[in-house]
Amino acid sequence: MIVFDVRHYDQVGSTNDEALRLAREGAGHGTAVHADEQTDGRGRLSRRWLSPPGNLYLSIILRLDLPPGRGVEIGFVAALAVADAIDAMLPRQVHATLKWPNDVLVNDGKISGILLEQTDDVLILGIGVNVLHPPSGLSYKVSTIVGSGGLATVDGTLSRLLTALASWLDVWEHNGFDPVRTAWLARAHPPGTLLRLTIGERMTEGRFVGLAPDGALIVETEDGPTRFVAGDVGVG
Ligand code: BTN
Repeated sequence: MIVFDVRHYDQVGSTNDEALRLAREGAGHGTAVHADEQTDGRGRLSRRWLSPPGNLYLSIILRLDLPPGRGVEIGFVAALAVADAIDAMLPRQVHATLKWPNDVLVNDGKISGILLEQTDDVLILGIGVNVLHPPSGLSYKVSTIVGSGGLATVDGTLSRLLTALASWLDVWEHNGFDPVRTAWLARAHPPGTLLRLTIGERMTEGRFVGLAPDGALIVETEDGPTRFVAGDVGVG
């Protein structure tokens, strides 16, 4: 099992950048950067990730020696770990769900985002979780653990997340992507759900079919079953 070496910072630009800097200095597999606040947090597709104190900002150095293309699997591993960690803090009737590629939602609001960055032989797994503060000014619905009726602190969320992540990484290392893919599908919207895919300026609609063995999204569009490897997904 992976062992995490957590380095705590009061404030950084981006925990992903700090993790990459440590990796270049030789920091090992499992080194984790946790910051109370980010001044330059990044999201997918070059977006900003607003990062005031009160939410979780974490980046982990993974040295997995993976063949090209398999890094994306870690995003699904991480999303499952985040969903498990959050579920354990929510009221019993509220559950985290998943949306492609790596979003974790509660009550249809995004509660966590995952940013994977691969450089040379290192994969930086960046995870943001809204514990207390819903980021404002976004075009999509957001939620927080506490606002969803959960009992949580940032440190408690960090600890549960690291435990769940170690356990899902173990499943993936021993059994490959297949059980991860199956577990991800069980927590995602059901097949047939109407999805809107935005890639740059282009929007495509279709019905959710499933997840390909390599993590690509399969949608039944007017052109038939279509694979997507990038983009934003809206549900319904
Ligand atoms: C997304 O757009 O959904 C991904 C957001 C990822 C945010 C996290 S917060 C910790 C890490 N550091 C960053 O700058 N980004 C990621």
